[in-house]
Amino acid sequence: MRFKVLYLLPLLLAGCTATLSPSAPLVQAEAAPVVVPAPLPQYSYQVRNVPEATGCVALTFDDGPHVTLTPQLLDILRSEGIRATFYVVGQRVASWPDIVARAVRESHEIGNHSWNHALFTTLSDAEIASQLARTDAAILAATGIVPATVRLPGGDGNARVFGLIDRPVVFWDVDTLDWQNRSPPTIQQISARAYSGSIVLLHDIHATTIAAVPGVIATLRAQGLQFVTVSELLSGRVCTNPTIVAAR
Ligand code: NI
Repeated sequence: MRFKVLYLLPLLLAGCTATLSPSAPLVQAEAAPVVVPAPLPQYSYQVRNVPEATGCVALTFDDGPHVTLTPQLLDILRSEGIRATFYVVGQRVASWPDIVARAVRESHEIGNHSWNHALFTTLSDAEIASQLARTDAAILAATGIVPATVRLPGGDGNARVFGLIDRPVVFWDVDTLDWQNRSPPTIQQISARAYSGSIVLLHDIHATTIAAVPGVIATLRAQGLQFVTVSELLSGRVCTNPTIVAAR
């Protein structure tokens, strides 16, 4: 049931206004038995924007965890009361599991971003499966949760890659290019392009990105947007009253 949204994504992409309602909780407080669904039939899709999620934006932080920067980011998010999604690299999760566990405790979502950030189109089917499985196992060991979504390293995918992945592959529609510009004002400026339903790409392995986050939050709040996780955004079950959101 956790992956029900999979079947409805084509409706979203076709512009359907169906309301989605996955039944599984987005965050589990304690480790619970995890049921890993059998692979689905071959299926490819991309999620760039979900217009049904009114007044919501999802901040995503890739390539961590970072031993010092991710805890700093978690402090900022906690003080701002913001939830985000972390697309973590498996081998880094294995090195710093406590940081990922803290993120889950503080209600953030964790997504699978491969074991070592290899580009999937360059890998064999078996290697791709291994990248995802090893990362799932590291996240499960750290948090008791199997991530519900995947982000491809470098956004690098093709029909073969999509066919091998048994859950939503999440892209973005606002790329802050934070890894390149390393400029908090620029990152803040680009983030202002986000609108209702946007997914913003950031990386929590650069100090300049962490420095930019308070400004990004202020900018998007000023636009009346509420911060949700990627799975919440895909669910379409939050942020249905933008007037109230804007009044906060
Ligand atoms: Ni990445």
